[in-house]
Amino acid sequence: MKTLKHLFDNNREWADAIKKEDPEFFSSLAKQQNPEYLWIGCSDSRVPANEIIKLPPGEVFVHRNIANVIVHTDLNCLSVIQFAVDVLKVKHIIICGHYGCSGIKAALDDKKHGLIDNWLRHVEDVIRFNEESFVGLNSDEKFNQLCELNVKEQVKNICNTTMVKNAWENGQELSIHGWIYNIEDGILNELAPCITSLEEVNIK
Ligand code: CO
Repeated sequence: MKTLKHLFDNNREWADAIKKEDPEFFSSLAKQQNPEYLWIGCSDSRVPANEIIKLPPGEVFVHRNIANVIVHTDLNCLSVIQFAVDVLKVKHIIICGHYGCSGIKAALDDKKHGLIDNWLRHVEDVIRFNEESFVGLNSDEKFNQLCELNVKEQVKNICNTTMVKNAWENGQELSIHGWIYNIEDGILNELAPCITSLEEVNIK
């Protein structure tokens, strides 16, 4: 049987290094998780949540899918949001897109990609909702524009989920952030001020 021995070796090395710094790290983390952040990002291997924001295990609750899309009927994503908001009581939800996203690129081209085209319809909708924003742009500019607009649209989508609306109605402290990551230099940027109430959703 083939095993991925090098990955197990990496794992032992990683766990040993952490335990050397803090012998109680894993045993105390095993008792409970108490993350302050829910990260919703792209599945892209170049955009690993914890590493980018330099946080250790236990600090970030993570959901990733292709092109970081919040679909109103996606039970998987909705369940993550519900658990994070209602049970873990995260204080911040970060929707993080990235430039150079293959999912966004696929939504812009006319080629067929199989099943994924159904998922990417949601990103194509973002083009339709914002047609005027693409007028006069060259293809690179359109690509970057869609990476950004997609994040903004998903921020609106998450703000309109029952979980986030209920949390705000109940006075729970919860901020929604729309960020974009540049795979060329490793830098994160905020796309708009964070949203902390339902009233702010339609203004921004
Ligand atoms: Co991507």
